[in-house]
Amino acid sequence: MPADGWDPAQYARFGEERQQPFFDLLALLHPAPGCRAVDLGCGTGELTVALHKHLLAGETVGIDRSAAMLDDSERWAVEGVWFGQRDIASFPDPDGSDGHFDVIAANASLQWVHDHDRLLAALTTALQPHGQLAFQVPTNNDHPSHSVAEEVAAEPAFAGVLAGGGDPRLAPVLAPEEYAEALHRLGYTEQVVRLQVYGHLLGSTDDVVEWVKGTLLTPYRERLDPATYEAYIERYRTRLLEVLGDQRPYFYPFKRILCWARLP
Ligand SMILES: C[S@@+](CC[C@H](N)C(=O)[O-])C[C@H]1O[C@@H](n2cnc3c(N)ncnc32)[C@H](O)[C@@H]1O
Repeated sequence: MPADGWDPAQYARFGEERQQPFFDLLALLHPAPGCRAVDLGCGTGELTVALHKHLLAGETVGIDRSAAMLDDSERWAVEGVWFGQRDIASFPDPDGSDGHFDVIAANASLQWVHDHDRLLAALTTALQPHGQLAFQVPTNNDHPSHSVAEEVAAEPAFAGVLAGGGDPRLAPVLAPEEYAEALHRLGYTEQVVRLQVYGHLLGSTDDVVEWVKGTLLTPYRERLDPATYEAYIERYRTRLLEVLGDQRPYFYPFKRILCWARLP
């Protein structure tokens, strides 16, 4: 098991479903030949290369906190693209050493970082004039796939282990209109902010367990010992099937917010 909870193989399950929002985000970004771009929470780097090519960028940097996710990134490396292990919360470096970017992109990663008002303000300081910011965040916490995870974590068998650091799920995602307001406040003169429901047709309700193991439950995996994590998963599966029923196939609605904005 990877030490940091992320597992590229688990994440790659449902790869097509997970990639669609990235390509929808990419469609909002204007190519900027020769530009300097950064992909925050780049994962394995596969989509960083797609970003680089779409932008016709001169240089694209992919950063991610997970060594396990980055392990394979060299596989995708093309000229002008490089990767580094780093926390988004420390980007950009306050000493200015990161320099400025024409494009800052983040697909399905900012939801793991607290305080989006602060984060967006910090990211904006690293953008050049006419710079583009584009990010996509899930906003599905009200679906049983997410609420049951929290409910089970509060049960006595797990609460003792998980309580120390509070809820391991960070839920800093703002409402779409709050992102629109924040982007306006930060000086962006063009923006697209939209809420989109991605409907995923899964084989059965049980497949939701495999889905959330790849993302939502990674902090649980980090905190629980392997046996307790397995017990947690089985309890989660039982409760989820009780709440949703054993549907075959199962239509899984997943809400996401896509934001694009450009500075004057
Ligand atoms: C859902 S994956 C998305 C990966 C990639 N952007 C994609 O679209 O395939 C989220 C990624 O964010 C990374 N991540 C989570 N929190 C992070 C943080 N604080 N700093 C840097 N990377 C982080 C994880 O390691 C993971 O690779």
